[in-house]
Amino acid sequence: MNDTSKPTHALRPETHLVHGGSMRSGFGETSEALFLTQSFVYDSAEQAEARFQGDEPGFIYSRFSNPTIKMLEDRLCLLEGAEACRVTASGMAAVTAAMLCSLSAGDHVVAARALFGSCRYVVEDLLPRFGIETTLVDGRDLDAWKAARRPNTKVFFLETPSNPTLEVIDLQAVADIAHEGGAKLYVDNVFATPLYQRPMQFGADVVIYSATKHMDGQGRCLAGAVLADETWINDHLHNYLRQTGPSLSPFNAWVILKSLETFALRVNQQADNATALADLLAAHPDVARVLYPHRNDHPDFEVASRQMTRGGTLIAFEVDGGKAEAFSFLNRLGIIKISNNLGDAKSLITHPSTTTHQRLEEADRLDLGIHQNLLRLSVGLEHVDDLWDDLSSALR
Ligand SMILES: Cc1ncc(COP(=O)(O)O)c(C=O)c1O
Repeated sequence: MNDTSKPTHALRPETHLVHGGSMRSGFGETSEALFLTQSFVYDSAEQAEARFQGDEPGFIYSRFSNPTIKMLEDRLCLLEGAEACRVTASGMAAVTAAMLCSLSAGDHVVAARALFGSCRYVVEDLLPRFGIETTLVDGRDLDAWKAARRPNTKVFFLETPSNPTLEVIDLQAVADIAHEGGAKLYVDNVFATPLYQRPMQFGADVVIYSATKHMDGQGRCLAGAVLADETWINDHLHNYLRQTGPSLSPFNAWVILKSLETFALRVNQQADNATALADLLAAHPDVARVLYPHRNDHPDFEVASRQMTRGGTLIAFEVDGGKAEAFSFLNRLGIIKISNNLGDAKSLITHPSTTTHQRLEEADRLDLGIHQNLLRLSVGLEHVDDLWDDLSSALR
């Protein structure tokens, strides 16, 4: 295989998204090949031994190395500006692997409390079962991060903007607090996407994605990614993935690799639509509140403008009333579908209190601002006027 990408960080994201990481086989194919193979054969027993010993480069077994998967990992590295990447079977596999590969019994984690429900399960329920304590803090309160830090704190973990209330956390300030105490900062960057926020530029050590969302963007495959420097990947993640096997199927890797070619086009159009809809919703008399990171009435607008180049593709808003009004609004929508996924070409809307965040106690939900009238809208690629017609007629 020839590496045809000739990667250089001087290229812009749109170019990396089309060419980054491409390897061409001897057949000279234009489109990246799908290597749907479990294992690889060797020319000789000596070659097999050399591969296993790491003395000769090459593929061994698709649980830990595969050409299609490598193309995706290299493309993501170039997009993020990261040294190394490993992809996984889902976003949650990426979060869990990043934690378990680098933590041991007796370690401590500080996490923002505004996390996706399954991420809260990992830090609140799973890690403590293995002797890893977690403290949850209000991620926007810098003093709370400082106060929670202990000598054995190894990881700070957050998502920004958060799911579903779009809280924005100051990455540079939290990274500085983590590093002062010898901890590392892990950031789930799903909502912002690598197009609008590069956490490593603000000091993050590990960046995690659910590639299920905008990277696939067409509702087909689950996938995840973890990006960090070579040392962290080699010292922690590489062996963990190789031995435990939360691997991405080469088929799913290929779908995401090809989807990345249109990633910037899709996400930019979705963000254009979201920007327009956030303003229209905010002006509507039946909408009590709109949260969109690049609107100047967002509580964290100043931080969002500093670290995000655009406001993203998601809007959180509250309709007048409670659960009954929120449900009847959802049930009147036509084009916009009720679904808990996000980042899709299709506009999707969810009621977080009864879906993505239903496992939290009511008091915790209220603490996070997840009220019964809150909805999370993932804005898609439909014509913005059709989306507004749908929303406004459902709002009445
Ligand atoms: C912020 C965030 N992190 C992680 C995940 C998990 O991703 P996956 O569904 O690919 O496991 C999600 C999924 O909704 C998410 O919204």
